[in-house]
Amino acid sequence: MSLNNAKAFNSQLKRVASYLEKLVSEGPFLIISHYDADGLSSAAIIANILIKRKTSFHIKIIEQPSAEDLRLLIEKYPEYKCLILCDMGSRHRKLLEEMAVNLKLNIVILDHHIPSAESVSSEKIHEVNPWNYGINGSTQVSTAGITYLLAKELDKDVGEKSVHLAVIGALGDRQDQGEKCDFLGLNKLILKDALERKIISREINIRLFGIRRRPLHKCLEYTIEPYIPGLTGDERACIDFLKRISIEPFDHEGKPRYLKDLSEDEVKTLVVELVKHMICEGVPPQEAEKILGYSYFINAYEKYPELYDAREFASLLNACGRLREEWIGILICLNKLSYYNEVLNILNKYRRILSETLKTISEEKVPINYLNKTIVVDCFSLIDERISGAISSILSSKPMFKGKYTLLALIASSSKPNHVKVSFRLLKDIPKFSLGDLVSKIAKITGCEAGGHEKAAGATIPEEKINWFLRTLERELP
Ligand code: C5P
Repeated sequence: MSLNNAKAFNSQLKRVASYLEKLVSEGPFLIISHYDADGLSSAAIIANILIKRKTSFHIKIIEQPSAEDLRLLIEKYPEYKCLILCDMGSRHRKLLEEMAVNLKLNIVILDHHIPSAESVSSEKIHEVNPWNYGINGSTQVSTAGITYLLAKELDKDVGEKSVHLAVIGALGDRQDQGEKCDFLGLNKLILKDALERKIISREINIRLFGIRRRPLHKCLEYTIEPYIPGLTGDERACIDFLKRISIEPFDHEGKPRYLKDLSEDEVKTLVVELVKHMICEGVPPQEAEKILGYSYFINAYEKYPELYDAREFASLLNACGRLREEWIGILICLNKLSYYNEVLNILNKYRRILSETLKTISEEKVPINYLNKTIVVDCFSLIDERISGAISSILSSKPMFKGKYTLLALIASSSKPNHVKVSFRLLKDIPKFSLGDLVSKIAKITGCEAGGHEKAAGATIPEEKINWFLRTLERELP
């Protein structure tokens, strides 16, 4: 990120903040945001500002919309003249500009996805997108980060108190891409802010789920990111693994042991053996080494185990969004801790759905087709569009899906009639290749909605076009 880029981005933030400042007294606002952790935390940051200003607002949480879906949604709420789109919108600037003019709407876009090429008059569209200033929105800042920086301009106090939500959003979008899972670019500056304010603390640790508070074998069992082949989701295998590397999972009274019970040597053994195990199971060494990296803790939530580790907080938000319980997720972001037990129930339900779905797939109880370069897993009858991304990410790190194949395509049901959702994951490293770009290019031909990043992409495709889509993609893969 060059200094000039950062300056230009900052000026745009200030411009949009002063535009929003004028609108805040007008209200009410319609906030349209995405269902993932980044989208929910972004919506919560805006809500915090509007609540303090006593400005009324309505939050609508949705999947990445097509232009037509977005138009219909906006037309459904004619009483709202002030709109903020979070984590979406940059792809639909032309439509949004037309609607702003024709319907006299005030529209603000906060997005970190690559914008559409179409140029629009900057006076009509008030957009903050890092890509417009040469800043990589996939790795350097999430929408929650952009929203946090904007909120700070609008209300220093409320803005600064939202900094943990910016960290959660970035972790939800896996932007911890630096050395040892550190942040990069603008995210690094946001983190510095959070550390200095003592809102977040961090330490390098074994990145197992709930490592500070769960028995060791349970941490292994629950760890999904990074996925540990042969151990994730299998309690018996985790106990056997610990025994095999001479770490007793239970003490002499039969009580489970925690990380804090291990000697220094045992901790070292655990890290070394885990990395070895993952590499043997086909995980690329650079992925396996991520088992040791920074964990980020939200100091105010020390007594709330599932909220304390910011990565777990992000998982919890993802669970809420994916099970269409997004409101509970937003309330938790707004610090309404009376919903804590409710959110834990959602998380348990989500875990159950994930493990049952993975079991069904591994037992090949759903159709799996092997094309030349692509594995197509058809989960249409099993899961919907909001779960497909999580399942395909987990599957893509399983050895049975790696090696020979380049691409995983997972089909799920879509809320759009006569359409299917497909989650695509790249199974190999291909330098200078963006799966998101290729999927978008093919989607454009059929006029369907798609997008994504280097290694992950998604599309909502008409049922009758799915075979054509997969064949075309297969042909164009490097
Ligand atoms: O839904 P899934 O996790 O498979 O999506 C993978 C990536 O593709 C995400 O970053 C998502 O935002 C993006 N995507 C998109 N447009 C779509 C579907 C997915 O940009 N229609």
